[in-house]
Amino acid sequence: MISFEFTDSQIEVQRMARELAARKILPDIQKYDREQKYNPQLLKDMAEADLLGFCLPEKYGGLGMDYISLGLACEELEYADTSARVVLSVHIGLYSLPVCTWANEEQKEKYLVPCVKGDKIGSFGLTEPAAGSDAVGIQTTAVKRGNDYILNGEKMWISLADVADYFLIFAWHDLDKKKARDHRGLSAFIVERQFDGVVTGPIHGKLGVRAGNTGYISMTDVAVPAANLVGGEGEGFKIAMFCLDQGRYTVAAGSTGLIRACRDACVKYAHERETFQEPIAHHQLVKKMIAEMEAGYEYSRLLWLKAGWKKNLGEPNTKETSLAKWIACREAEKAAADAVQVHGAYGFSDEYPVERYYRNAKGASIYEGTREIHTLMQADYALGFREDKPLRAHLPIVEQDR
Ligand code: CAA
Repeated sequence: MISFEFTDSQIEVQRMARELAARKILPDIQKYDREQKYNPQLLKDMAEADLLGFCLPEKYGGLGMDYISLGLACEELEYADTSARVVLSVHIGLYSLPVCTWANEEQKEKYLVPCVKGDKIGSFGLTEPAAGSDAVGIQTTAVKRGNDYILNGEKMWISLADVADYFLIFAWHDLDKKKARDHRGLSAFIVERQFDGVVTGPIHGKLGVRAGNTGYISMTDVAVPAANLVGGEGEGFKIAMFCLDQGRYTVAAGSTGLIRACRDACVKYAHERETFQEPIAHHQLVKKMIAEMEAGYEYSRLLWLKAGWKKNLGEPNTKETSLAKWIACREAEKAAADAVQVHGAYGFSDEYPVERYYRNAKGASIYEGTREIHTLMQADYALGFREDKPLRAHLPIVEQDR
């Protein structure tokens, strides 16, 4: 049965995230964005509001909420600013949910429970200076030596790089397979910030997500205990793709929130601003832009809800997630460009922050799979060149009161 009604617990998460956004993010976001500063208090506030572990199982200290709740929280956070939603994308989507799904019980005790409680922060390192879309093109190596793997390599454009305590890092354990670009030579490791040889730093001067922490991770002869290998040797690529299935979902839901923010800003301004002796809300070309935002919001939301529904059932959902991410990001870019158009020169102001929305919208069509990657994936599904296989591990989160 399909229902469009949210449960009480989903509504409660939505309310919590909306309230946090209104009280803790919106008042200062323009300042942090302008100064390109990350607000270190944000993670503490999110932890306090239980937003860093709410959709992980109770067994590991979470609230056992479902994927729809995760999507609703992402919508509300990105309504305020993309940098806040990115925290959920990385800490929950790209780190905690995959660790919960693929790690063993000892690893979960050590590296998941503190993240669920919000005492530690998790991040994800796949992208490198010379490999983004081409995930098997990464160069980082993990050579086995005794009871350790020795990691060497550079990770780039990593969200929360300078803030996270633990990183899920992808590296080649098999150098022959690396040469052959055979994904079975890739493995996933949990790397602690404090391991010798790990250096991180921030990247400034970005177009968007300026209040977010984005950086690099450099690893030189980092000895990672074999106990930190997640899954088996050779499962790295699948784990990375699983991570992206969760991260892309949060981006889709978040971008939907950004479309809503554009729509709401334009609706307000259209009632206030007059040209040709009447509010611009009465001009048909302005109405058209607002109508397209409304439509973009509604169908982007339906797409992430469908992906979330499949995730809750534990069914393969890479296709639905990729489509939701592609379309929501495309619509957010369009909505933000039109929002700037509607606001004219006033869009560059603290009162009407649509210029920030415009800059933030662009990146999402690049990170976690460019729009070109998602376009090709959808074409390949339609052409029968690609199909989703059932997952080895069941998805971990189940809503408590369903
Ligand atoms: N879950 C589990 N397994 C999966 C999977 C998934 N979602 N998708 C694929 N696999 C498995 C396949 O079943 C296949 O297994 P077998 O070989 O055993 O059959 C294997 O993985 C290879 O799959 P494909 O043949 O589909 O792989 P591909 O080469 O066609 O994939 C690609 C190509 C789709 C372009 C992929 O490389 C891709 O998604 N690239 C984009 C990477 C990306 O999004 N990078 C951005 C990261 S964001 C970031 O790093 C920044 C940050 O801080 C957030």
